[in-house]
Amino acid sequence: MSVAIVTGSAGLIGARCSRQFARSGRLVVGIDNDMRGEFFGSESSIAGERIRLESDLVDRYEHHDVDIRDDDEMDAIFARHGSEIDVIVHAAAQPGHAKWTMRNPIEDFDINARATLTLLERARRFCPDAAFVFLSTSKVYGDRPNELPLFETETRLELPTEHEYFDGITESMSIDQSLHTSMGMSKVSADVMVQEYARAHRMNCVVVRNCVIAGSAQAASKSHGMLGYITKCVAEGIPYVAYGNGGKQVRDVLHVDDLARAIEFIAESPVPAAVYNLGGGRASSCSLLEAIGTAEEIVGKTMDLSFGEGGRTGDHRWYIGSNAAFVHDYPSWQPRFGIAEMVNEIHEARFG
Ligand SMILES: NC(=O)c1ccc[n+]([C@@H]2O[C@H](COP(=O)([O-])OP(=O)(O)OC[C@H]3O[C@@H](n4cnc5c(N)ncnc54)[C@H](O)[C@@H]3O)[C@@H](O)[C@H]2O)c1
Repeated sequence: MSVAIVTGSAGLIGARCSRQFARSGRLVVGIDNDMRGEFFGSESSIAGERIRLESDLVDRYEHHDVDIRDDDEMDAIFARHGSEIDVIVHAAAQPGHAKWTMRNPIEDFDINARATLTLLERARRFCPDAAFVFLSTSKVYGDRPNELPLFETETRLELPTEHEYFDGITESMSIDQSLHTSMGMSKVSADVMVQEYARAHRMNCVVVRNCVIAGSAQAASKSHGMLGYITKCVAEGIPYVAYGNGGKQVRDVLHVDDLARAIEFIAESPVPAAVYNLGGGRASSCSLLEAIGTAEEIVGKTMDLSFGEGGRTGDHRWYIGSNAAFVHDYPSWQPRFGIAEMVNEIHEARFG
């Protein structure tokens, strides 16, 4: 039986991919030690999702409560499955700008960057033909998107229609000479390593750069999971402070189902060394104010909203990624979910 290795297998993206690959007939070997609970607090623990995966996927899912930095344990997992491994989805990471990262930049680098290198090495030794899909981030562009000539509308920051990036920032934007923060820095390192292994060792490595990913399975927190956390604040009456830009900062949002379909396309037919921005695109983008408005409408309550001075260091004022490169390689893929549908799903699943 073919084997899919999924790191971060009980996180938002890893769990969805685990289900997808189990459905396609693979044994999914999931690796997740619930660091999420440590990064974002116990309310963000993946313990529940791990139990659901094990009970839903039964003999198609094998969970390893292992730290991806544990070389002996990781070697043993790869040695056991060897060349049966035909896909690796690397989704384990410290994914947020949490205070944790500021206090632990070396551990952040160890998880996000060094462990990616050791994973690539393991793939090279044990299963060099496997598709290796790395979940990178729009944060690799540092604060470069903040140099775009933005103007304000009533609800969002916006680019002039004639600008080359109006329909989304392409992979041609420089990742160099801008401010990244610790997490951006470690993700850039990993992103480049993955590209390098495709080029230097002719492996089937692919980089996917996402902005915001949403899904009702996510245990969203203040620092990770924008739509989920906004919906939670509106539904539960939790006060929300919007920092910087008057709440007009813009993000594209992709539903995790759409991302999992995209990852399956890559796994079936990888383009070595490809780098894709992948998100909801302009059609599924929103400012903080717009997302709050949508959540208020769907939940039927008004948010306890206030505004704070200054944004997070290096935070994007406007980020919509272009899906053009991905759609060029996989023309039958398109995002299926809009912002309102995602908020509605989160509300019904978690707070309805
Ligand atoms: N969710 C988003 O909005 C988003 C946006 C852009 C990029 N990404 C990228 O996608 C990837 C997955 O994101 P996600 O939203 O699923 O995050 P997540 O926090 O839900 O999942 C990551 C999982 O990795 C696990 N993990 C972390 N460190 C680990 C370690 N040392 N050993 C074993 N497991 C460990 C965590 O416990 C968690 O369950 C990350 O690389 C992230 O940078 C996510």
